[in-house]
Amino acid sequence: MSLVTTTEMFKKAYEGGYAIGAFNVNNMEIVQAITEAAGELNSPIILQVSAGARKYANHTYLTKLVEAAIIENPNIPIALHLDHGADFEICKSCIDGGFSSVMIDGSHYDFKENIEVTKKVVEYAHAHGVVVEAELGKLAGIEDDVKVSAEDSSYTQPDEVEEFVSKTGVDSLAIAIGTSHGAFKFKPGTKPQLRFDILHEIEQRIPGFPIVLHGASSVPQEYVKIINDNGGKLQDAIGVPEDQLREAARSAVCKINIDSDLRLGLTAGIREVMNQHPDYFDPRQYLTVGRANVKAVVAHKIKEVLGSEGKA
Ligand code: G3H
Ligand code: 13P
Ligand code: ZN
Repeated sequence: MSLVTTTEMFKKAYEGGYAIGAFNVNNMEIVQAITEAAGELNSPIILQVSAGARKYANHTYLTKLVEAAIIENPNIPIALHLDHGADFEICKSCIDGGFSSVMIDGSHYDFKENIEVTKKVVEYAHAHGVVVEAELGKLAGIEDDVKVSAEDSSYTQPDEVEEFVSKTGVDSLAIAIGTSHGAFKFKPGTKPQLRFDILHEIEQRIPGFPIVLHGASSVPQEYVKIINDNGGKLQDAIGVPEDQLREAARSAVCKINIDSDLRLGLTAGIREVMNQHPDYFDPRQYLTVGRANVKAVVAHKIKEVLGSEGKA
């Protein structure tokens, strides 16, 4: 199978009441871990690349790693997606460079400018057989070292979605309902709660339209503990409860973005091995354990959160 767009994936996910996992990739071990888990569980998968990932690992290395993963896992649909494209130019570069899906993140613009830039990307992408995700509303948290405070974040306004979708021609829409980027999503002592009322109102206004949730890591406490027990210092790391993500996956939410949980799994594995074996200096010794943790995280998400097992 070659790279696919998300069109068919989202249609089946919407009708089937499950979601597709979109996992961020930054190196070979992460690509291997995600696609091995998805391959073994017969699950469709989205591999997504941020601007930071392209800066770190280089566009060519990343696309070639994904090509290799497709050869190794021929039975599952794999989409390659640009995560948080900041402007038309980066979207164009990924469309021209072989991605099957791009996100234009115009959430930092006002409504009218967001429509304009999204429409421009959609026109170019669709002319090249590529699909587009856009964002309405503003998530809190950290992306590409830019921190959006909780005060500056804002929920998606349901009365804007119909106009946005019809004027832009976009294929999926990321919304803000209380998730946020990174490993520190909620204040300690508060009860994490997504705004399902907003989600359901949006669903009713654009029936059948695929919704995307960013900032959907759950921050597994077992990995936080391993990190902290082995020299790390992550205080008050809190994620989105998995039962709320499971509920979202049954709704119009067709794509759930997860990056931080992979980072935690990888770091926990590396820290544990390094701490237990101060004599180790072969990267394969610790990356093997880190990679196994990432694979376990992805398998868990597919089976227990997304519901995409067996849907390839
Ligand atoms: O949305 C943020 C993702 O976790 C990507 O993070 O920009 O540090 O690669 P990054
Ligand atoms: P997390 O930081 O919750 O993993 O979110 C990742 C994400 O939204 C990537 O776009
Ligand atoms: Zn995101």
